[in-house]
Amino acid sequence: MVDQPRVARYRQFGDPSVIGVEAQDVPDPGPHDVVVEIRRSGINPLDVKTRAGAQNVPIPEGGLIPHTDGAGIIRRLGSDAAGLTEGQRVWVWGVGREVGTAANLAVVPAERVMPLPENASFDLGASLGIPAITAALCLSRHEDRLIVPSTYALAGRSVLVRGGGAVAHFTIQLAKHLGARVVVAASPSKLQAVELAGADASVDRTRTDAQQALRELSPDGYDLIVDVSPAANIQSDIDLAAFRATIALYAREGGNSAEVDFRALQAKNITLRSIRTIELPQDEMQWAADTVTWALEAGALSVGEAHGLPIVLFSLDEIGQAHAAVEAPGFHGKALVTL
Ligand SMILES: NC(=O)c1ccc[n+]([C@@H]2O[C@H](COP(=O)([O-])OP(=O)(O)OC[C@H]3O[C@@H](n4cnc5c(N)ncnc54)[C@H](OP(=O)(O)O)[C@@H]3O)[C@@H](O)[C@H]2O)c1
Repeated sequence: MVDQPRVARYRQFGDPSVIGVEAQDVPDPGPHDVVVEIRRSGINPLDVKTRAGAQNVPIPEGGLIPHTDGAGIIRRLGSDAAGLTEGQRVWVWGVGREVGTAANLAVVPAERVMPLPENASFDLGASLGIPAITAALCLSRHEDRLIVPSTYALAGRSVLVRGGGAVAHFTIQLAKHLGARVVVAASPSKLQAVELAGADASVDRTRTDAQQALRELSPDGYDLIVDVSPAANIQSDIDLAAFRATIALYAREGGNSAEVDFRALQAKNITLRSIRTIELPQDEMQWAADTVTWALEAGALSVGEAHGLPIVLFSLDEIGQAHAAVEAPGFHGKALVTL
């Protein structure tokens, strides 16, 4: 176990400078918890929005330890934490908003702990969390039925991914592993990255003829569309959807509302799904975490510049800089705090 554990914490909302680093008492796990020695703490847009006070969560009396995702090694088990072992490499996700992973020792509910195979680095493990689970949830239903994870679950299906961020990255890799053909519409600076991630084709979403280009890449329409910006894209999504397609909306980049042509939606029997991962019941998120681990064990998920999602590392003392980097316009990659 680490000698002099330290923890990041903030006691008020604000800019990245509100996060301080202090000594940490060795925490005791509750009966259903484990203590994980964190090696990498993953930062998501949700974490910076929470710190900025945009998420409507109260700050507990003792302050808030940031970040919901991470990877490390189990050091202590709660009395009822079944199925896990001390010394096990793990990735953790959605840990909690009060007690996060930006600490040498994180207390994590056992149900949010997944095995990290030997072939997967801590960088990869800490990048998965909410983005990969959201990706799995977005791909989880086709023709309104829960898919069974297999390398042919989406064989013969065409998937359109909007955007080129971390969720898009894992959506591309998972969809490929599920057997789909994947087309991505992203900003021009991300096109090379999404192809490195495994996309079969990509289209510059800022092109005036982007709609035409996307239609030509899948003339019969897309069976599944995963959209980061429905306000900008929903009508285009409906136009490009195949009969009985599913459109999964997981973010509100670029706006909160848009006009929807219900006639077109109905004519194709389209299913519109919206996903807010952290609000879903544990069994659905567990399905997604299991699906991510299934793909991980097969070597289907990867990060790093060569795979389209650069990793940017920060020390615990640089955690404020890490938040500032994630907030900066145009940031691409996964920011991780090393511990
Ligand atoms: N619902 C959930 O449970 C859930 C879970 C995870 C994340 N999220 C949200 O999803 C968003 C992305 O998360 P992330 O981790 O992937 O962040 P990220 O790595 O920072 O990626 C953000 C992406 O948003 C895309 N984007 C921004 N404006 C766009 C627009 N007008 N049209 C199309 N794409 C646009 C950009 O894609 P381009 O390359 O095309 O510019 C960019 O790559 C965040 O808002 C996050 O809070 C929601």
